[in-house]
Amino acid sequence: ESFVAANEHMPSYGPDSPERKQLYEALNKYKDTTTDIPIVIGDEEFRTKDVRYQVMPFDHQKKTAKFYYATPDIIQKAIDNSLKARKQWELTPLEKRAEIFMTAAEMISKQKRMDVMATTMLGQAKNIWQAEIDAAAELVDFLRFNCQFSRDITRYQPLSPSESVNNSAIYRGCEGFWAAITPFNFTAIGGHLCSAPALMGNVSLWKPSDTAMLSNYTVFKIFREAGLPPGVINFVPADGPVFGDVITKSPHLAGVNFTGSVRTFKTIWKLVAQNLDNYVSYPRLIGECGGKNFHFVHKSADVKSVAVGTVRSAFEYGGQKCSACSRMYIPQSMWPEVKQKMLDILKEIQLGSPLDNKIFLSAVIDDKAFNRIKSYIEYAKNSPNLSIVAGGKCDDSQGYFVQPTVIETSDPQDKIMQEEIFGPVLSVFPYPDDEYFKYAQMASKTSPFALTGAIFVKDSVAREELVDTFRESAGNFYINDKSTGSVVGQQPFGGDRLSGTNDKAGGPHYLMKFLSVKCVKETK
Ligand code: ALA
Repeated sequence: ESFVAANEHMPSYGPDSPERKQLYEALNKYKDTTTDIPIVIGDEEFRTKDVRYQVMPFDHQKKTAKFYYATPDIIQKAIDNSLKARKQWELTPLEKRAEIFMTAAEMISKQKRMDVMATTMLGQAKNIWQAEIDAAAELVDFLRFNCQFSRDITRYQPLSPSESVNNSAIYRGCEGFWAAITPFNFTAIGGHLCSAPALMGNVSLWKPSDTAMLSNYTVFKIFREAGLPPGVINFVPADGPVFGDVITKSPHLAGVNFTGSVRTFKTIWKLVAQNLDNYVSYPRLIGECGGKNFHFVHKSADVKSVAVGTVRSAFEYGGQKCSACSRMYIPQSMWPEVKQKMLDILKEIQLGSPLDNKIFLSAVIDDKAFNRIKSYIEYAKNSPNLSIVAGGKCDDSQGYFVQPTVIETSDPQDKIMQEEIFGPVLSVFPYPDDEYFKYAQMASKTSPFALTGAIFVKDSVAREELVDTFRESAGNFYINDKSTGSVVGQQPFGGDRLSGTNDKAGGPHYLMKFLSVKCVKETK
């Protein structure tokens, strides 16, 4: 009861530290092995004829995992099994459920830390720091904070105004099953999207991303080892459209907890709409779908924090965070100095294997991403309004490498300033200094996305104006800080417009989505 969640401490991984040694032992354990990953339903494992592989993005001849797509029959079996498991699980008290996820958090924090680290580094091409803030620290934070939030939000009981009446709220999970459809870019999001419903008394089917299979399976096994009963979360790798089709046809779909592309999220809504007459309850849809995140710089801003913050936001993990900055607006008078500082930093950045400690940036996730990002760079090369001021090279001979690329544009409405690229590509529009308000309005109003954004400003009058202008343009808004790096319990995460349903992962209100509250009035 006295437990108060705090953010997980990150070790330093210094050259002679024990954690560095342990990490390399774990990397050695996984790096030349292809792990066989079954579909797991209840206590049973399944392997189908539809065999798939996860490759290392930075060395794509190497396979980190072999896995199997579930057939429609197997997905249906997973639904049936989870509905059976639900009977016991929804009667399990919250304290007991929280204890299991707290145990999982402790395991990830301690004895399993290097397993989630290594599998994330190898499979998703994250360097030590990017893996640590994700698969270790953020996942532990999600688990611990959710346990605390779950107690906080279920503490409320309605008023009982007289002795003869007793009003009470009973906090239960939803009838039916949840589906967690999760992305490659954060191991923590995978572990979070399937565990948050489970913590609140629901059962879920977890469809991990093909390109995060090894780390996600590692997390799944930790949940089971921590004491999660079979069937509460079933692990169901599958083809996206097949999975979407089977779950939305089930009358028992309670909700979909989704992070991924706008297109896929819209497809899920449409499938749910098509099946609307068949459901026992209205399925709840939670989506976090990316953005076109901005840095808007005022002439009073600090040059160094703009340059460093923008390089970090745009290029850490190859711009593959949903929060990554991909469009910058900057006064024309400031741009040469900021550009020079950014070029100085970018000169030092080497691309390579994330196992090499000097590497800031590794490969992008797969061939599809590589080709998409490359096509935007090609477009920039051929467009008269755009010029490439840094990077621009792509090479997929060994891994899917794209240089951090900065594109300058004279047209703030160019598609390079509007469309999500999801790669290490930053577009910059230098605006006439004295028209800052006009361009602030354009930057805030014209984007179909509203996930993250930052303003850099020291002048207090301009600060007020900018805060007001960007009021509705970002679910996570930063003043004099980069647009990435939200921390569980500190900056609950999510945006609206096409970016999602803004349910604020990492905050208490998020968990309300997984509750179905029953209110009881008893007259004595
Ligand atoms: N929570 C992640 C960030 O803010 C997506 O960078």
